[in-house]
Amino acid sequence: MDIARTPSTPDGNPEMADAAHEIASPVEVRREDYRPFPWAVPQVALDFTLGLEETQVTARLDVRRNPAAEASPVLRLNGDGITPLWVKVDSAETTGWVMDGPDLLLTLPGEAHSVEVATAIAPAANTQLMGLYASNGMLCTQCEAEGFRRITFFPDRPDVLSTYTVRMSGDAGAFPVLLSNGNLVSSGKGEGGTHWAEWHDPWPKPSYLFALVAGDLEARRDTFTTCSGRKVELAIFVRRGTGDLERTGHAMESLIRAMKWDEEVFGREYDLDVFNIVAVSDFNMGAMENKGLNIFNTRYVLADPETATDGDYDAVEGVIAHEYFHNWSGNRVTCRDWFQLSLKEGFTVLRDQLFSADMGSEAVKRIEDVRVLRGVQFPEDSGPLAHPIRPDAYREISNFYTATVYNKGAEVIRMMRVLAGPERFRKGCDLYFARHDGEAATCEDFIRAMEEGAGLDLTQFRLWYSQAGTPRVTIRMAHDGDKVALHLSQNVPATPGQPDKQPMPIPLKVALFDPQTGAHRGEQLLVLDKAEDSFIYQGYASRPVLSVNRGFTAPVAIAQDVPTSDLVFLAAHDDDPFARYEAMQELVVTHLKEAVSGSLSDEQRDEGRAAIAGALRAVLADERLDDLMRGELLILPSHAYLSEQMLVADPGAIHGERQALRADLARALEGEFVALHERASAVPYSLSPQARGARKVKTQALIYLAEGNPALAEKMAAAQYRAADNMTDRQGALMVLAGLQGPERTHALIDFYNRYRGNALVVDKWFSLQAGSLHPQVLDHVKALAEHPDFTLTNPNRVRALYMAMAVNPAAFHDASGEGYRMVADLILQLDPLNPQTAARFVAPLGRWRRIEPQRANLMRAALERIAAAPSLSRDTHEQVIRSLG
Ligand code: ARG
Ligand code: ZN
Repeated sequence: MDIARTPSTPDGNPEMADAAHEIASPVEVRREDYRPFPWAVPQVALDFTLGLEETQVTARLDVRRNPAAEASPVLRLNGDGITPLWVKVDSAETTGWVMDGPDLLLTLPGEAHSVEVATAIAPAANTQLMGLYASNGMLCTQCEAEGFRRITFFPDRPDVLSTYTVRMSGDAGAFPVLLSNGNLVSSGKGEGGTHWAEWHDPWPKPSYLFALVAGDLEARRDTFTTCSGRKVELAIFVRRGTGDLERTGHAMESLIRAMKWDEEVFGREYDLDVFNIVAVSDFNMGAMENKGLNIFNTRYVLADPETATDGDYDAVEGVIAHEYFHNWSGNRVTCRDWFQLSLKEGFTVLRDQLFSADMGSEAVKRIEDVRVLRGVQFPEDSGPLAHPIRPDAYREISNFYTATVYNKGAEVIRMMRVLAGPERFRKGCDLYFARHDGEAATCEDFIRAMEEGAGLDLTQFRLWYSQAGTPRVTIRMAHDGDKVALHLSQNVPATPGQPDKQPMPIPLKVALFDPQTGAHRGEQLLVLDKAEDSFIYQGYASRPVLSVNRGFTAPVAIAQDVPTSDLVFLAAHDDDPFARYEAMQELVVTHLKEAVSGSLSDEQRDEGRAAIAGALRAVLADERLDDLMRGELLILPSHAYLSEQMLVADPGAIHGERQALRADLARALEGEFVALHERASAVPYSLSPQARGARKVKTQALIYLAEGNPALAEKMAAAQYRAADNMTDRQGALMVLAGLQGPERTHALIDFYNRYRGNALVVDKWFSLQAGSLHPQVLDHVKALAEHPDFTLTNPNRVRALYMAMAVNPAAFHDASGEGYRMVADLILQLDPLNPQTAARFVAPLGRWRRIEPQRANLMRAALERIAAAPSLSRDTHEQVIRSLG
């Protein structure tokens, strides 16, 4: 479908096409092959004649030789599935061009030329949702990473920065709203019911930040006055007449808070007169930071109490902020090449995490972020798709928009902040922005700015950018006389292509508690930068309790032989809320690991469960805890995180033990859970932390009771469902009912569907709850839902709602029959020709086979081999399958 690449091109650019290799083995692009592009393109003028079936595009590029690059007369313009209708050089039509695979090559004699190319594209037939495509009668674009080349021929790489002028014309009835980047320059009526608009973006940008939207849209409008007093017109566009406009208030408030926060915390001011957001139902990812015209998946824009959960509200706030923050970390300073993706993504994720922490509870936000890291990124880092946050090679860049680049990338920058402290970190950021404004920069540029601005020596720290794998830190505490010694060692595991690793600097916040007084003498920051090191503390007459990696200062796994009593102590007394949560998790993880391995006698198992029940009872009774935090402490470690702790996991055994523990805890604490549910149910709906906390613990209580006393849980969940005046309560109750087998399940599922049919985002929830349920027939339900009239392979949200929910549901996906694996493989094969980017995302769950017990591992590998044997695969899926079979 696309290009293949070798480093030896006439223009010294690694992006050489070689059509012969296209399908069989797409060529690797390597970071070390980077060469500057021989041509600069200071100005671009685009002209669109819009139509859903056909859109005509003319592009005029002012090109001149790039003095900073090796000279070449050849201008390579990337294309993907497009053909030139005509080509002009310096206003004269020419036939002096050739196609090289999907790319167009021109040989230009002089220093500077104007190049014009006309193309015609078919938005309605664009099921990949990259480039210009149609969604519910609207036209919109997604260009990152390499979608612009599906619109017109262009040096589609992030280090070619241009000033864009965009003119578009189209039917005034079908497309009353015409948007692009920057400011509206002029608009008017054309012939035959058409109209046109011209937009100009004064800020030079790479092609991946180009955007265009045309459709019948309505907008919520507001304004923001920047710190220097400039007034910015804000608008959030949705499809007209859908009722969605009423659901954009939270997104608008979030945007305004984000703009203010970035001024106050990072000193970053917005730089255009308008900031537009458009919500689109068909979208591969979450959202896109196109300059002045962010395009969003509807699920990260729309929220009201009736249709969005508290979690949805947080996700909207976080993604709105994330895309807005890209205006500086991504747009004003962009990436030199796609290997530097974490430069903008890791940094921007950290910025959105800090923002959300400031908007709500810092502790709860940290716990949520670490849960994602451990549940998604740690498994990635220990599997066949492991890669450093700055990868060295790729075949399809879309496959590298990963939890590693995003979330571990954020953790790496967070460590710099821990090492420097917030003030010096800010100085490093200021220097980075000042030094590289208007440039396409590298991770190395960021590190250097941080070294100089924050006053850090990051020589060894750079290993965090180049080495993949989650470091494992082993800790042993020795107490002798009044001396405490912490013996630490680290091991960075081998990952594909990286057999040997060097020790990395690992910043760990620690505290030593006196178990008698419950106090410690202040937090210390240790930096473990050798394979092994010891840290000595004097003046401890009795053995202290160690609290380590407080606040999760380093993205590492800690191995430690700790007595259960220490964990129980920390779970009840640690003054760092993250460490308290961590102790609770560790208590459960340690127990379940032993239980799953079969090394516990019945008596020992009962003892373990009793210790956990005691700790949970303390959490339920602790009046100093707010419910948001209590809710976190009630959440059992995920199946994915537990599997991660075992070299080879037996998903059936893990699931069984985890559920049995939950049932046991629920029986031991039934009265407490019922009382908690009752107390929380009395709190009226609002978005206050108290009310949100109440909703969180309410559903947590039901989740426990469903295991311990299903009949009671069914009654309570059905009552919660009926009484619900908000989606959090309704979805929580339905989730619990979906896993039970009584009559209330069916009633509630039918009611929910009838109530919300026609609201795509809520119907997505309906699919997800069933595919993610604990019901024993879940795979049959998924098969039936795939035949439901509302199911379609052309909408990524719907596909994920059904199949990703199943693929991350351990009891379903790992069904011993292998049926879950077969269903995911079937989906990949069906979806790949339509939407390779989304299809390729489903490969990773199958790729875990090496870490799964042999019977299931064979079935998983067989599913992968069946995909690999398909006659034609996209570059996206091909790369993931080959790596997974590795
Ligand atoms: N830059 C976007 C974000 O992080 C993600 C876009 C990725 N799109 C893609 N098709 N790979 O907000
Ligand atoms: Zn981003």
